[in-house]
Amino acid sequence: MAKKKEDIRIGVFICHCGFNIGGVIDIPAVVAYAQTLPAVVCAEENLYMCSSAGLDIIKESIGNCGLNRVIVASCTPATHEPLFRKACEEAGLNKYLFEMVNIREQSSWVHMHFPKEATEKAKDLIRMAVARASYLEPQIEPELEITESALVIGGGIAGMTASISLARQGFNVHLIEKEAELGGMLRHLHKLQPTERDASEVLQEAVTAVKANANIHLHTSHLVQEVKGFIGNFDVTLQKNDSNECEQIHVGTIIVATGADAFTPAGMYGYKENENVVTQLELEQLLKTGELRKPRQVVMIQCVGAREKTGRTYCSRICCMVALNNALLLRKLYPDTEVVILYRDLQTYGDYEDFYREARENSVSFIRYDPDEPPKVATSADGKLTVTVYDTYLGAEIKIDSSLVVLSTPLVQHEDGRRLSPILKVPLGMDGFFFEAHPKLRPVDFASEAIYVCGTAHGPKDVTESITQAYATASRAGIPMALKKVKAGAVKATVDKNICVNCDACVVSCIFNAVEAGPFGLPNIVEANCKGCGVCAAECPMAAMQLKHFTDQQIVAAIEALFRSKKPVSSTESFEPTVLCFACQWCSYGAADLAGVSRIQYPPNIRIIRVPCSGRVDVLHVLKAFQNGADGVIITGCLIGDCHYTDGNVKAKDRVDVMKKSLGALGIDSNRLEIDFASSSEGRKFATMMTTFVEKIRRLGPNPLRAKGGD
Ligand code: FES
Repeated sequence: MAKKKEDIRIGVFICHCGFNIGGVIDIPAVVAYAQTLPAVVCAEENLYMCSSAGLDIIKESIGNCGLNRVIVASCTPATHEPLFRKACEEAGLNKYLFEMVNIREQSSWVHMHFPKEATEKAKDLIRMAVARASYLEPQIEPELEITESALVIGGGIAGMTASISLARQGFNVHLIEKEAELGGMLRHLHKLQPTERDASEVLQEAVTAVKANANIHLHTSHLVQEVKGFIGNFDVTLQKNDSNECEQIHVGTIIVATGADAFTPAGMYGYKENENVVTQLELEQLLKTGELRKPRQVVMIQCVGAREKTGRTYCSRICCMVALNNALLLRKLYPDTEVVILYRDLQTYGDYEDFYREARENSVSFIRYDPDEPPKVATSADGKLTVTVYDTYLGAEIKIDSSLVVLSTPLVQHEDGRRLSPILKVPLGMDGFFFEAHPKLRPVDFASEAIYVCGTAHGPKDVTESITQAYATASRAGIPMALKKVKAGAVKATVDKNICVNCDACVVSCIFNAVEAGPFGLPNIVEANCKGCGVCAAECPMAAMQLKHFTDQQIVAAIEALFRSKKPVSSTESFEPTVLCFACQWCSYGAADLAGVSRIQYPPNIRIIRVPCSGRVDVLHVLKAFQNGADGVIITGCLIGDCHYTDGNVKAKDRVDVMKKSLGALGIDSNRLEIDFASSSEGRKFATMMTTFVEKIRRLGPNPLRAKGGD
């Protein structure tokens, strides 16, 4: 391990967070402990470290104590790290010399009934942070020029709204639509809920505004064929439909608004076999064109092809409102037409609850069916439709003669969205829709900078929500373009060419074209393309490739510090395992945070190290953990398919599979190593993963290397 070059002076600032941390953890004991750690020259506590008084303490201490590293032990970095980093910068300290320890979501909130263990865990986490902080380096964030021009992909209502908003802010916009006409799905809708406004009116207004704005360059019948570049500087190749004619444009930001398709329920409920079985979208078209012959009785079936056990497991959110809207329209148009809605659960969020009441008042009938016993639609020899449904409230089977059956089907990802995902290198979620960087903190951003998403490409939503989200993306995309320059993050790959053996593992592993073969075949980092996942560093067999701010040295220092004070275990009777968890900073760290916020308890044996992506976890880190005495190591990442760097978690899984095979040679049971995945909304799953793994390790007993006192 390389020597630290300077006189390290660390300040540790520990927050009570009112009663949230201080009510469980013995803060004075933790402060006293922190003062004993190497290079720590001051340790302070405060009721709220994030208050202006708390921030002033940090800033003054940087000057008064000559601090060159700052650690705050408080809540999750997901919310407060920018604030503390800013305080450091205001006091003249590079923000990359700041380190945060999460003793609230990861300790006091999840070990509420174990104050002693929670206090010991806080001490461990601070000791790890102090060790890592000693190896932190100041970083310079490169400044990038931003081209004041945006690409909007998709000419539906979301894409048009985003384009109009950006154009009105004074930016050039290239609006790309694959069809010859603008409008997307809005062209096929009839009346919009809840206002009953004509969809064609809304469409016409938007199309007129697009065509009238000189800042908008419209490219209909075009597809995006290739995108190269990075924030502020994207080179985009457009291709005209059914031709080889290509056009190049240069833009600073990109908005994805490719829309969605309605699921086609082929082979379900007599669809396409009987012309009187239609989808809600087809019903709207019949209503819009006036081609609907007055039906005597209409049966609508909800959740057709949605909320399934596999595949389309998600709720499409808007189908209940669409059914209610169309049922009310039918009742108004034909007051003596009976309308029955067969549903599993009616989801009328927000003000749409009123809509449901209105439907009831207008004599729309509702029958609840069991998903295990879905309705059946039969066509008689003379073409008449009969719907049979088991009414779960009546406890009886009902037969309804129907002249029209309407199937409420979910929205699904458009094929153009699936095609664009690898071109833009932005992920699709498990449901097939585009996946945002963070559902709460960056809901319209992709993890890749300056690329945003809105409308139904991101998930089922109605026209109002699509428009609102389009304005949000236009605001987000407008920020870097208005600034004209932005600072890019400094967490980038870096290579030591003196020890590189030119094996190309980094070049092959990087899917962002951020590592290319340079002179003599040695790797060259294209910093602007580097997303900072660290996969290349983990794949490098020589440790020549590193990730700034997440170097091997920094990670190993934290691992060694964790086990430094752990005593060898002589008997298994009082054995309490120490388990190291690597958590990717996106989903799995978010899931750990959610477990904390939800106060879901799990054993206090877990110590988390945050990494950018599970793909950053190197064989070296795992081996160091076991050599130093870890009883178990669990790597956690985003769900497969949801990695914010596309496939870092798949690479991590492959690496774990290989490591498991070789651990035996070191005398380590392969069951001591595990990889698991959770989305940021799965706090309970994260807690269960931790509980199950700790129980398993407890059964396996102490790591034999720890029992011997490490190596
Ligand atoms: Fe979470 Fe890659 S970002 S596993």
